[in-house]
Amino acid sequence: MSARVIDGKDAARASNARVAAALAELKSTHGLVPGLTVVLVGDNPASKVYVANKKREARAAGFNSTAHRLPATASQAEVLATVGRLNADKSVHGILVQLPLPRQMDAQAVIAALDPAKDVDGFHAVNTGLLWGAGGGLVPCTPQGCMLLLRRATDKIAGSHAVVLGRSSIVGKPLAALLLGADCTVTVAHSKTRDLPAVCRQADILIAAVGRPEMVRGGWVKPGAVVIDVGINRKADGKLVGDVAFAEAAEVAGAITPVPGGVGPMTIACLLRNTLIAACRQAGLPAPAL
Ligand code: GUN
Repeated sequence: MSARVIDGKDAARASNARVAAALAELKSTHGLVPGLTVVLVGDNPASKVYVANKKREARAAGFNSTAHRLPATASQAEVLATVGRLNADKSVHGILVQLPLPRQMDAQAVIAALDPAKDVDGFHAVNTGLLWGAGGGLVPCTPQGCMLLLRRATDKIAGSHAVVLGRSSIVGKPLAALLLGADCTVTVAHSKTRDLPAVCRQADILIAAVGRPEMVRGGWVKPGAVVIDVGINRKADGKLVGDVAFAEAAEVAGAITPVPGGVGPMTIACLLRNTLIAACRQAGLPAPAL
């Protein structure tokens, strides 16, 4: 293996420590304790684990953190009413509605009902518009985490050709906007792209976010490239793997994120960053440098 492994756990710890310090300062200077509420509808087992992790880490950093649970049978109106109450609650600065929502629910309508200033996932159309336009909104957590890892891995982001594999609204599209904002030449590739391996081989920065276990092979990677693997897939034997065949890619890449321990820990770290930023903005205070 020749690639340097980019340590997401260490990056997340460092970010969480900066957030906790800024939070302590906010508390002592302004008496402000930022609040994060996670809304969980139904009992998707993976979502329950994610929500418990978010709550635990937010509390550890010093946030006021609560989870609001509704049954799988809850109506759209009940979820919208919950969001409305949280929008109006001055002690809640960040609201996250855990996805996926039960089938009968219109997730887009629920996201649209969020106060954009409290939308710490950065999924509301106002935040999407700001991301592609003037900036200054809340930035989706996983793409934000990818950029922080990228900055750790290389100081040659500007001018690089970045290939984003995947075009989801949660990762691929917002990541394309962030990479463009960082002066990359950006290609968004997807399941209909012709000759994916050849497109990926052009990438100085290759980001895989397709949800297909070990799809990106060593031969798809340009020698020396930085590879960021957003995928978390469980194989039949229970092993967690990314969208990149790690051992093969690590032979060719200059730097690569592992799974687990790469992008995963950065998602919650960025959720905490967003909640702190949202709380400062709502209180009319400048956001601390993180
Ligand atoms: N489910 C899987 N990923 C996410 C995420 O980033 N945010 C929310 N709200 N739900 C998710």
